[in-house]
Amino acid sequence: MQDTRPVERAARDPWWRDAVVYQVYLRSFADGNGDGVGDFPGLRSRLPYLAGLGVDAVWVTPHYVSGGADGGYDVVDFTSVDPDYGTVEDVRGLVEDAHGLGLRVLLDIVPNHTSDRHEWFRRALADPDSPEAARYHFRPASEEPPNNWQSMFGGPAWSRTPDGRWYLHLFTPQQPDLNWTNPAVVEDFDRTLRFWFDLGVDGFRVDVAYGLFKDPEYRDNPGIYSPTLFGHGPEQAMTTNQPGVHDVWRRWRAICDSYADPKMLVGEVSLADLAEVGRYARPDELHHAFQFRLLKSDWDAASFADTITEALAAFDAVGAPAPWVLGNHDKARQVTRYGSLRRARAAALLMLALPGSAYLYAGEELGLPEADVPDQARRDPIFFRSGGKRAGRDGCRIPMPWEGGEENAGFSGATPWLPQPAGWAGYAVDRQESDPGSTLALYRQAILLRDLYPALGSGRASVTRTGDVVRVDLVAQSGEPGAVTCWINMGATPAGVPAHRLLLSSSPDVTGPVAGVLRLKADTAVWVTW
Ligand code: GLC
Repeated sequence: MQDTRPVERAARDPWWRDAVVYQVYLRSFADGNGDGVGDFPGLRSRLPYLAGLGVDAVWVTPHYVSGGADGGYDVVDFTSVDPDYGTVEDVRGLVEDAHGLGLRVLLDIVPNHTSDRHEWFRRALADPDSPEAARYHFRPASEEPPNNWQSMFGGPAWSRTPDGRWYLHLFTPQQPDLNWTNPAVVEDFDRTLRFWFDLGVDGFRVDVAYGLFKDPEYRDNPGIYSPTLFGHGPEQAMTTNQPGVHDVWRRWRAICDSYADPKMLVGEVSLADLAEVGRYARPDELHHAFQFRLLKSDWDAASFADTITEALAAFDAVGAPAPWVLGNHDKARQVTRYGSLRRARAAALLMLALPGSAYLYAGEELGLPEADVPDQARRDPIFFRSGGKRAGRDGCRIPMPWEGGEENAGFSGATPWLPQPAGWAGYAVDRQESDPGSTLALYRQAILLRDLYPALGSGRASVTRTGDVVRVDLVAQSGEPGAVTCWINMGATPAGVPAHRLLLSSSPDVTGPVAGVLRLKADTAVWVTW
């Protein structure tokens, strides 16, 4: 029989290949100064919690001075800290504390657009002939918009300036798109990267990394973009995934590699074609390229199995690790999306077994559901730009519950910027810490086992599916012992699966195995060894 003793994971070099990264929605994570808004001091105070969870790195959503039109993704000054969140010194302190705990810190950089309050755009508005105007996409005054391009948040991607010109914004009108063919734009971002890297920051999550360049002739898109589409496909052919963007990532990668402890980049590449996503993670480009097909998958075994197989092949083809993500600040929480906490827990075990890195979104380790946000409390521009037809993303951005017995569940002494729904305290960290069956306990155990078994997170995977049951066999690459299989039953009836020893189960009601067979209930995942 094969030796199944756990093996301490070999040197993690480079660290990012199999990292577990924890996404912090800064405004909603922890409030250090009691104003109802999360901030850097709050995050610093909660770093021991993240170290205890076992993650390798923290990704912090945008912290810059912003126009407030899109949750911080409309940046006014790329080397600033919004006073709501603290100061540049707070970032330095965060990095020092994090490093002391063995955690890396990634910030979020937004190169596709600025805020309309950015000094460049102000000057561009004031003077059409200014050098700053050449840093954006302006088109001459005309009755109709220059072409059929649509904003990803709804409506045309063009708005008019007071003097009648058109300017491009793939998101809100407060987020004018930058013109990346202009060397001044390119060089300014080099400086931004170095500013934060020199402060000790370990890398960046790159917003809209498949954007930046647009068709130089501003030709119509061959179709009309709709946010309900699966990914960004041909209907965005002129506005995303232009060839020039890869040169930017090569340039940024060279900057990362120029540091003694190289920095890392993870890009948002929301393209439907996974082979195209893989091209962003070629060895001299981004370290990780997010693909969102799993995130967008319904609770369906065929869809999960096919997506995982295809994604692994796409990243293998370029020698890159696959980054997995089931939830983020743009998507309804998985408990609600999949229909139950039970399913969300099973999906988490599947994700944490897969080779590559896993991105967790703050609160998923508590099993938070999507919250109902009253219309008058909503903040997301998607809600407003769709005339209320799309609920928007506020429901996954609710302030974290820390201590169930405290005011606002320990998030803040003041009224939180987004209301916590009734019952939120029941999900609090302190309540789950004392419960071995909690979702928090499950995540901790899973991450711990991932550290102990090289097959988990850094093994080679083969995926098979029988009906609603998906099997992922994971073998350590280095030949170390400890092969693990992850089984997930996505169907409605129990299934018997072969197993020698149960390592971890997403549901406490799994027992066995008996005589080499484990009874896997509906909506359950297990890790077993042989
Ligand atoms: C990305 C971000 C999203 C933001 C958009 C515009 O998709 O994840 O939150 O609204 O870019 O910057």
